Amino acid sequence: MKSHQYSLSLFAFALLSVSFIKIEVFTSLSAQPSQVHLSLASEKKHDSTVPVIVTWCSDKFSGEQYVRYGLTPEVKKVRKAVMAELSDKLVLNAVLKNLRPGARYYYKCGSDIGSWSPVYSFNSEPDTGSFRVAVIGDTQNATNNAGFSKTRMIADVVRTYSPSFTLHMGDIVEDGSIPANWSGFLSVTEELNATSPLMPVLGNHDVENKTGDEFQKPFIDFKSLFNLPGDEVNYSFTYGNARFIGIFSGCAQAAEKTDQVQYNPESPEYTWLDKELTKAENDKRISWTVLWMHYPVKSFGWSNVSRWRENILPLLEKHRVDICLAGHRHVYERHYQIKDGIPVKNETGSEFLATNGTIFITNGTAGGNPTGSGGRDLNSMAFTPDESMYSFAIMDVETNSITFSVFDQDNNLIDRFSINK
Ligand SMILES: [Fe+2]
Repeated sequence: MKSHQYSLSLFAFALLSVSFIKIEVFTSLSAQPSQVHLSLASEKKHDSTVPVIVTWCSDKFSGEQYVRYGLTPEVKKVRKAVMAELSDKLVLNAVLKNLRPGARYYYKCGSDIGSWSPVYSFNSEPDTGSFRVAVIGDTQNATNNAGFSKTRMIADVVRTYSPSFTLHMGDIVEDGSIPANWSGFLSVTEELNATSPLMPVLGNHDVENKTGDEFQKPFIDFKSLFNLPGDEVNYSFTYGNARFIGIFSGCAQAAEKTDQVQYNPESPEYTWLDKELTKAENDKRISWTVLWMHYPVKSFGWSNVSRWRENILPLLEKHRVDICLAGHRHVYERHYQIKDGIPVKNETGSEFLATNGTIFITNGTAGGNPTGSGGRDLNSMAFTPDESMYSFAIMDVETNSITFSVFDQDNNLIDRFSINK
């Protein structure tokens, strides 16, 4: 190659490189944070508030990203994000610690090079023992809930209650093997989840359903996207004076046929739960213990998996559990408190003493097709509505009482009861 040809080639290469950089900068500018959601970290230092994790997605790399946050919408504090790759996108998160109790925090996520999310806000853990929890489940995007249209409607109503966080009963999506389902759910519910930490357990639709080694294995999207405490499948956290324990019930129906039902008494998760419940029971700072899962311990028909009940119920009866919440069956059911296997019937129907046992709830559906009233012929059944409906619940936790209110999709009150200490 002659020298002038070499120079020309160099010039062309340099020009091409500059164009490439320009294109890269241009595409970076389009990297809009999406699917913004919050979660709670597991443990907190004594006398501090529960840390809040901000998670979001970005289609393109745009350098370092951050959460800017503070007690005013100007959001002056900065926390650098940790980044991970997930198939076609990036997942970022930052942990916000040492939050002032009971304060409204503002935040946004992203970067100056890319772009920023809207400014959202959330309430940190209060030090008064009073807080509000939303309960939803079965948001799966089946035919009746295409594009999570029903879930969007419920999430918009739930948001008006300003919950401190949301418990999800599982079956988050219809088919967890499809990444677009996870991003669809997190996009549609962003306005709720960006202001109220989302704490889900896995349902049978969220995990691998095929037989073999992969059976009941969570999909990578779940582990990458939600940033939950512990192993993210079975976990616990303390909020106020309540202990919340979320457990994985797998594909209990299918697993029963192959002797693979979760929480076999010999299993590590059984030992873990036994210890968790013992710890909560012996901790004088804990007034309430709430357990939530996908498969109900008490329900009827095909949703009633006897092996799951046989595995879990002895632990609940051994320890002091106030409320056991579940999903799977697309119906709201409230059972009488159960103590030593016997329903404690209360004719007033709305005021209960915590010492009388555990209340079992099947929480209904915030997306999956409603399937009619629950098992009226069960001797433990206290209330189930006559009609099929989408529903959600709001749990108001106080130092000496929990009030549980259930609403339909139009925000009509369906059921309300209180447990008192
Ligand atoms: Fe289910």
